[in-house]
Amino acid sequence: MALIGVFDSGVGGLSILDEALRQLPEHNYIYLADSAYAPYGERSSDWIAARSLTLCRHLFKQGCDAIVVACNTATAEAIAQIRNELAIPVIGVEPGIKPAAMQSQNGVVGVLATEATLKSDKFNALLATLPSNCQFIKQAGAGLVPLIEAGDANSEETLELLAQHLEAIQDAGADTLVLGCTHYPFLRKAIRKLLGESVTLIDTSEAVVRQLKRQLEAKSFAQGSHQNLELTFISSKDERSLLDMANDLMLSDMSSHHIQSKLLSDIS
Ligand code: DGL
Repeated sequence: MALIGVFDSGVGGLSILDEALRQLPEHNYIYLADSAYAPYGERSSDWIAARSLTLCRHLFKQGCDAIVVACNTATAEAIAQIRNELAIPVIGVEPGIKPAAMQSQNGVVGVLATEATLKSDKFNALLATLPSNCQFIKQAGAGLVPLIEAGDANSEETLELLAQHLEAIQDAGADTLVLGCTHYPFLRKAIRKLLGESVTLIDTSEAVVRQLKRQLEAKSFAQGSHQNLELTFISSKDERSLLDMANDLMLSDMSSHHIQSKLLSDIS
């Protein structure tokens, strides 16, 4: 049985934790939300890299056997450094532009991600590997993360802001939309309201967890336990509200885990 750390700037990584609990329920988890400092997406590369490294070190010191950087922005800016420093499997998450290019019928793909992700070298290097006959309409989702953090994923305000962000993607006739930030799967309902059912939504959480599974198997952590399972939620802002959000947003069964929540006092 492994202890798996899942880290995000806030509640977005709960979309990955949800999938992890579905595919790999027999492990212990620590979910770390840096909500006091969210959103990361409009911060500098150096800041994101330093903060992400600090928090992953913290998870490592808690005894994690593997870490999922459940944040596209932190992955883009910090994954290389984190992997370099920590001698455990570190799994990242990237916007699913490759599967999107493969699935799109008309070759027009919208990519909704944070400004930092879209500007990052890592994202642009990935983009450069894809066939030039696919057109990517990139859009930064400024302002969406704070609304999701506030529990307003389905509010009128969110719908209006999302409509603005999706305008260029809709106008270009995209048949596929990449959810390039782990917070955005929680906007699925709102996106469907605006784009209808025909647009394919690409969310990489299933693939990310499959990758985690492979890495655990390689480290002989394949076998989990059904007893004394722990699930700890840590927030740098408000641990109770993190727990409430987890209960609201996640669909997987958490009943076999003993759940606790903690406040992360400032670390450096
Ligand atoms: N959930 C994040 C991501 O996947 C970061 C959002 C943010 O803090 O801006 O990019």
